Amino acid sequence: MLVLGIETSCDETAVAVVDDDRRIRANCVLSQQAEHAPYGGIVPEIAARSHVDHLDGLIAQALSEAKIGFADLDGIAVTAGPGLIGGLIVGLMSAKAIALVHAKPLLAINHLEAHALTPRLLAPLDFPYLLLLISGGHCQFLIVHGVGHYQRLGTTVDDALGEAFDKAARILGLGFPGGPAIEHAAARGDGARFDLPRPMLGRSGCDFSFSGLKTALLHVVNGLPKPLAMSDIADLSASFQAAVADVLEDRLGHAAARFRAGAPSGRALVVAGGVAANGFLRARLEHAAKALKLTLIAPPPALCTDNAAMVAWAGIERLRLGLVDALDVAPRARWPLDPNARPAPGAGVKA
Ligand code: KG4
Ligand code: ZN
Repeated sequence: MLVLGIETSCDETAVAVVDDDRRIRANCVLSQQAEHAPYGGIVPEIAARSHVDHLDGLIAQALSEAKIGFADLDGIAVTAGPGLIGGLIVGLMSAKAIALVHAKPLLAINHLEAHALTPRLLAPLDFPYLLLLISGGHCQFLIVHGVGHYQRLGTTVDDALGEAFDKAARILGLGFPGGPAIEHAAARGDGARFDLPRPMLGRSGCDFSFSGLKTALLHVVNGLPKPLAMSDIADLSASFQAAVADVLEDRLGHAAARFRAGAPSGRALVVAGGVAANGFLRARLEHAAKALKLTLIAPPPALCTDNAAMVAWAGIERLRLGLVDALDVAPRARWPLDPNARPAPGAGVKA
């Protein structure tokens, strides 16, 4: 089984070809970072336009790298949400056109499900497992009971974790995206120098909050001489990461207890999403998971950040179950994995 994956929900144009033997035949990712960097964040209109400019060429490139033609495909998988609506429309319209012209099944994929199923692309992994999804738009604990069957245990009441990294990086004068820049700077820093708050630490439940941490960082920066010294930036980055790691560890303790109660046969903690590319946080999570008798599974960084191999794989999982979509399927800017989850108290639009 060979599936084409298309990802255009955010600022990466990505196309991949994956087979059901877990072989990634092609995995092309075109980052728009340079186009958005002057604005310090993603500009939706620029993103959509850039997807239009590059998607066709990238599809041709992926097929050529995989040495196949459209006729060899068994399905067309495309991210249909959640994400920036302009970009989603570009990807979905292209996928529909290919599916229609070549009479192939269309698989409309939830981007979060693609992150959630990525570990099964790498190696066999049984359901259920506990998922910590930490990306630019999300920060949640979910129990993955099966394809299409997710139970949310907790979420952020304000900023997503990747968003907190990006905002912290802006405060420190580091570039966009902020996560990799902070991790890089923190490697030379002292994480104990600044005593930043650990929001939600010790509270019941598995929700997160990061906006207070970012504000605390801003206050510390305001009290330091400008321009910031390299050593200050390094120590601030390390202190920020240390605070995040403490929060993740604390919240994991609560989530693991609920996971054990809700899915007693589960043994694995999967960490996915762009922030899961952070080596420091992965190491801390691995340590914490071990203490809770959970095995940490973290995809390699290139499959944590947005890519289309994960979309193609989610397509394979759905195609195997006959979960094919009609050609009139609509893109969805918001699309929670757990439709029964209520917004976290205090949450804005991102629940
Ligand atoms: O999953 P992703 O590629 O896109 C979304 O679906 O959001 O995640 C992007 C986010 C950005 O906020 C970026 O700063 C963060 O992931 N990120 C990192 C690292 N690499 C990417 N955060 C912390 N450390 C990293 N090494
Ligand atoms: Zn993502």
